[in-house]
Amino acid sequence: MSTHVIKCEGVSFAYEKERVLEDIHLTVEEGEFLGIIGPNGSGKSTLIKLILHLIKPQTGKIEVFGKRIQNQKDRSLIGYVSQKANSFQRGFPATVKEVVASGLYGKLGLMRWMKKEDWKKVEEAIEWVGLSAFADRNIGNLSGGQQQRAFIARALVSEPKLLILDEPTVGIDVKSSKQFYDFLVELHQQTELTLVLVTHDMHAAMTIVDRIACLNKRLLYHGPTDHLMMKEKDILTQLFGNSLFSIQENQFCPS
Ligand SMILES: Nc1ncnc2c1ncn2[C@@H]1O[C@H](COP(=O)(O)OP(=O)(O)OP(=O)(O)O)[C@@H](O)[C@H]1O
Ligand SMILES: [Mg+2]
Repeated sequence: MSTHVIKCEGVSFAYEKERVLEDIHLTVEEGEFLGIIGPNGSGKSTLIKLILHLIKPQTGKIEVFGKRIQNQKDRSLIGYVSQKANSFQRGFPATVKEVVASGLYGKLGLMRWMKKEDWKKVEEAIEWVGLSAFADRNIGNLSGGQQQRAFIARALVSEPKLLILDEPTVGIDVKSSKQFYDFLVELHQQTELTLVLVTHDMHAAMTIVDRIACLNKRLLYHGPTDHLMMKEKDILTQLFGNSLFSIQENQFCPS
């Protein structure tokens, strides 16, 4: 029997008076790679914040790893990279190694408590994301894409069972984005990690994930990508408009 890593039942949320999420029912299975797409302001990051228990739904319930979110005390189960993770200021006084190590202790400045095996985990995570050559560099002096990788390493160092990435390739060039998605596919294949990827990159969404969730305040579609492409293409038009994308040879190209 498959296990639900995330289960949202009838979740609604409003920041002030206006609802931004309405009656969301969504499950993510163990080992799945889920993509979440939707236009700007459609509630993607809000849904992620609810799943992380950073905000609370007005109605409905959320379970993570089989427990109501408010009872799930094991925070190390989830790794999270936020939408703005690659915007460190130049000169920020921490090395890549220190930033990644902070993933073990929750904040910077506690390195003195680190054991030898903790540093080994930090080095392995840095190696995973291909940043070994930059380990002792100042994070603020890395490129946006390199900073993003450092934050993935930070999220991975505590060995989470679920990794949530909110638009990880914003501001990253096409070649580096492609490398990054290849890295995610490899990560997914080589580990038992469950992955949730919020993205505006339609091509990546359609090619690398197992299932896709289309969000626009409500959950308009949740299922396999090929079914969406073959049978429910009008949902994509509804979300992104007719003129935005034309589908050619299974690729999304600006028309
Ligand atoms: N802290 C906040 N206070 C009030 N309104 C907010 C807050 N955060 C987001 N919103 C509003 O909630 C709606 C959903 O925002 P959200 O950030 O979840 O969208 P999104 O799908 O992640 O968009 P994007 O693709 O631009 O990242 C938007 O209308 C936004 O203006
Ligand atoms: Mg967002």
